[in-house]
Amino acid sequence: MKSVTIRAPSTIANFGPGFDIFALALEHPYIELKMELTETRSIAIRLDGCREDMPDDPEKNCAGLALMDMLKRINSNTGVLVEPLKTIRVGAGLGSSGACASASVYGLNRLLQLNLGSDQMIEIASQGEIASGSVAHADNVAGAMLGGFVIVKSYNPISVLRMDVPDVPIVIGIMRKTQRTTRSFIPKAMDLSLVKEQLSMCSLVIHAILSGDVEELGKAISKDHISEPVRSQSIPGYVKIKKKLLDGGALGCNVSGGGLSIFAICDQNRVQDVAEVMKDGFADQGIDPEVIITRSSNQGAQVVASD
Ligand code: HSE
Repeated sequence: MKSVTIRAPSTIANFGPGFDIFALALEHPYIELKMELTETRSIAIRLDGCREDMPDDPEKNCAGLALMDMLKRINSNTGVLVEPLKTIRVGAGLGSSGACASASVYGLNRLLQLNLGSDQMIEIASQGEIASGSVAHADNVAGAMLGGFVIVKSYNPISVLRMDVPDVPIVIGIMRKTQRTTRSFIPKAMDLSLVKEQLSMCSLVIHAILSGDVEELGKAISKDHISEPVRSQSIPGYVKIKKKLLDGGALGCNVSGGGLSIFAICDQNRVQDVAEVMKDGFADQGIDPEVIITRSSNQGAQVVASD
């Protein structure tokens, strides 16, 4: 196999209360990366057909950084050309960097027939997150690698649990961050009473996923004391938009990943209404974001073409 095209899904990291621990894979948008082994002994990123604003310097690119780490670990100096064919909106909290890093690691694993295990690939891909100004967190990369709903069981060493997810319709109001990362806003400590609530909500998310109870899932993902309070401050009218969504048919709503997109989950028969409410809610703030309708997905990184 000389070249391979890998598809990897966007993800909602944290998925409400699970800061750095939970992620949910989405049916779309997704990224597609074409990868080719070359004789150059270096990593090259070709952005000719790429509409998103991505760096082509491998040291500043999520795929490039993950691949550099991977080649070092396996002690290889093979050259790799990476070409993003389809991208996810960058800087919107939809896991574009995680999908990019996971797809590239998955692709090189195939090209070199390394047979690395998924935890090992997730560990390497998480290094790619550093390029987006973040730390090497594993929630997005795990969701993009494995699909479904993931729980990062351990960071040292990385160990991830994956579960199949029920079909959950999701509406997303896509908003990009103006800042490179919102990571520094996260509080360093938390009051014990809030910790207890957070634990309850995390447990409820897992129970709802396992029992397929989308209504319970909605309640569980709507409360978070770690990311939502700080990230939502950069979203104009967030509290009003959230109330409107919950009053207008959404079962649950929160900030997606590092923001600033808002996601809402709902029953299939309410998705159009909820999408309208999302548009109206932002319009009240004088904002006209792209609103998409998607759903949860059990599909992780996969080969979609090769030669
Ligand atoms: N868990 C990460 C965070 C996801 O909240 O910062 C963002 O990429």
